[in-house]
Amino acid sequence: EKGDFEHFMLKEIYEQPQSLRNAMRGRLSREEATAVLGGLQMTPRELRQVDRIILAGCGTAYHAGMVGEYLIESMARIPTEVEIASEFRYRNVPTGKNTLQLVISQSGETIDTLAALREAKRKGMKCLGIVNNVASTIARETDGGIYIHAGPEIGVAATKSFTSQVAVMTLLSLMLGRIHHLSSTDGLEMIEELEAIPDKIISILQQADHIKQIANKYANAEGMLFMGRQMNYPVALEGALKMKEISYIYASGHPSAELKHGVIALVKPELPSVFIAPHDAVFEKNISNIEEVKARKGPVIAVATEGHPNIENVADDVIYIPRCPSSLSPLLTVVPLQLLSYYVAVARGCDVDKPRNLAKSVTVE
Ligand code: F6R
Repeated sequence: EKGDFEHFMLKEIYEQPQSLRNAMRGRLSREEATAVLGGLQMTPRELRQVDRIILAGCGTAYHAGMVGEYLIESMARIPTEVEIASEFRYRNVPTGKNTLQLVISQSGETIDTLAALREAKRKGMKCLGIVNNVASTIARETDGGIYIHAGPEIGVAATKSFTSQVAVMTLLSLMLGRIHHLSSTDGLEMIEELEAIPDKIISILQQADHIKQIANKYANAEGMLFMGRQMNYPVALEGALKMKEISYIYASGHPSAELKHGVIALVKPELPSVFIAPHDAVFEKNISNIEEVKARKGPVIAVATEGHPNIENVADDVIYIPRCPSSLSPLLTVVPLQLLSYYVAVARGCDVDKPRNLAKSVTVE
């Protein structure tokens, strides 16, 4: 039931502090400064042998996998690649006996993802799932995995499933990191930062009115660009996908630095750009990219870290997120983008929960 919310999508966006707590519940051990993931059905020895990881999913789940690739590589230093599930099954990916496949699917019924799983099994890979729907085909056919426990997601646009998928991949990266070289101090710090995320999301949700005003201002835009770097590049893709799906405004996501390699030709007053520019190692680079857009009269909406008000000198509108380590920032930066697309779609009179041409689970190829 939608309760006080006008749409399931909005309700599910607001559920994220709780769905993230559910994703982490009982899975963090302060004592050992690691994550405890019993569902993997792998011994510590088997886990230590994994020397390559292939992530696969479609749409939003693929974007979560892109974030996962950064997380696993930076925390666990295991070579990881992410594939769009429909492409993976037709690629002849060389695999070793210690390659692990992880398929990511909210519904657990997406046919392309299921086919990627079956292809990997055929090749003898160990296959795990990051799934929401426990009673699903993918949940049944994987050798084990991590349920995200996000609860039913009714809105066609995936919201809470994305943040929960990213959260459990953070847990997995932490656990893999800890059986390799990650120190207990770093592990503990990660646990504390993860546990602080739900309250930080609450503070972003409290800015909904501000985000709605920005959405109303740009609701008639011809198109929108979404820019981000590193872990926030997949968030840019996700922001653009949300915008397309529910508001029918054409949008595309890009690594910020790709602007000058072509995308900047599109910039004009009718085409706003959303920059995901939290305070991280590439913040200054993002600022110069914003300046390039402003110099060509493109409106800029920035998602930035609070305490850095000088971004207001370059961007037209700013949405602030609380401070957090850069590896966790996608869990926060995606939330304003979900709300932005929601309010743009509402302003345009779109059917938010049932966008045209889309179904909640895609069981045809
Ligand atoms: C986007 C969206 C789709 C799904 C994709 C995969 O909002 O909902 O892109 O993410 O169809 O679905 P699952 O996760 O059920 O495999």
